Amino acid sequence: MEFDKPSSKLPEPRYEVENMNTYSAPIEGRREFLRLDFNENTLGPSPLVIKALHNIPSNHISIYPEYDGLQEAVINNLQIHHKIKGISSSEVGIFNGVDAAIHAIFHAYCNAGDYLLTTMPTFGYYNPCAKMQGMEVIAIPYQNNNFLFPYEQIYRTLQDKNIKLLMICNPNNPTGTRLSPDKILKLAEISPQTLVVIDELYEAFTGDSVLPYINFSKTPNIVILRSLSKTAGLAGLRIGFAIGNSNIINRINRVTGPYDINSFAVTAAFAALKDQLYIDKYVKNVLVAKAWLQEQLKIHKIKHHIDGGNYFLIWPERSAHEVETYLKSKGILVRNMKGKQFIDGSLRVSIGTLPQMEKFLKTFLSLVKMS
Ligand SMILES: Cc1ncc(COP(=O)(O)O)c(C=O)c1O
Repeated sequence: MEFDKPSSKLPEPRYEVENMNTYSAPIEGRREFLRLDFNENTLGPSPLVIKALHNIPSNHISIYPEYDGLQEAVINNLQIHHKIKGISSSEVGIFNGVDAAIHAIFHAYCNAGDYLLTTMPTFGYYNPCAKMQGMEVIAIPYQNNNFLFPYEQIYRTLQDKNIKLLMICNPNNPTGTRLSPDKILKLAEISPQTLVVIDELYEAFTGDSVLPYINFSKTPNIVILRSLSKTAGLAGLRIGFAIGNSNIINRINRVTGPYDINSFAVTAAFAALKDQLYIDKYVKNVLVAKAWLQEQLKIHKIKHHIDGGNYFLIWPERSAHEVETYLKSKGILVRNMKGKQFIDGSLRVSIGTLPQMEKFLKTFLSLVKMS
């Protein structure tokens, strides 16, 4: 729906808000499809999550949410299952999805005219958040056909300009580009005045996290983002975490409402964090499917790019729109990268289980074979 410019009768919104577009979800009505368009868990959450949600008593609904012990559950999970030690509860912020954490970071740290440094193409929510604050955006393209991380340029820009916020999606959505922990630490070290945010939504698939290598007292300007939306399958409940120096997490929390995360998400998070085995199994399934796909894409000579994360890009010989529409007619959703610089004409396909990817490839090839 198009909205008019406000007439003189209406209160005037902030200048930055008036000059931005509404960020809306691309499509709805996805439930009956094989959903390979949002990098979600294609099997759903652990049965323990469903059980915990079924057992929610009515007073859980009628009273405001309680968060006691959740930070500790995150810390325990990191310690037991990922061998990450030394994180304290004041270093873990809970948010209504990582989207809300990103929004709060911009809100807490960024003034009009400040610089956001990021890469291109990358996750689509950083840019509207920067616009909301009236920031200048410097987006450095990934390099070559392999979408290599533009490390030298990022390094130089951090030295040449007063950058307030550096947002790195690692591995990057949608190119899968990965940046090693030592390089991330180096970038943070040379720019102590810059808040370096590492969006690690997809780290589980290739183990790209910088978290095991950070001491937030020594490197206080790094914040790590983690979510239960993807591997844990809780996207609909909205819960994510920001992990960083206590002072930084405290400031990000200040711009967050007191009850922004609902009780259902909290209950589900406790159950999901306890059932790491379920998540690990799902990740293994995806990695098996990914290896199979990589082979198949080569065998069938389909132009593609596949790296970190649970997704890949393909450039079909027919128009991306035609392929997207055909797949949809066969019950499969993929994401068209139309309008995204450098990858316009491609489709991003999420990787689910092996049978799901076999179905995808068979359907995709059936269109290729049609004259
Ligand atoms: C890179 C990246 N960051 C953040 C998000 C949002 O995560 P959440 O569902 O926790 O808000 C997404 C969702 O697609 C994403 O791809």
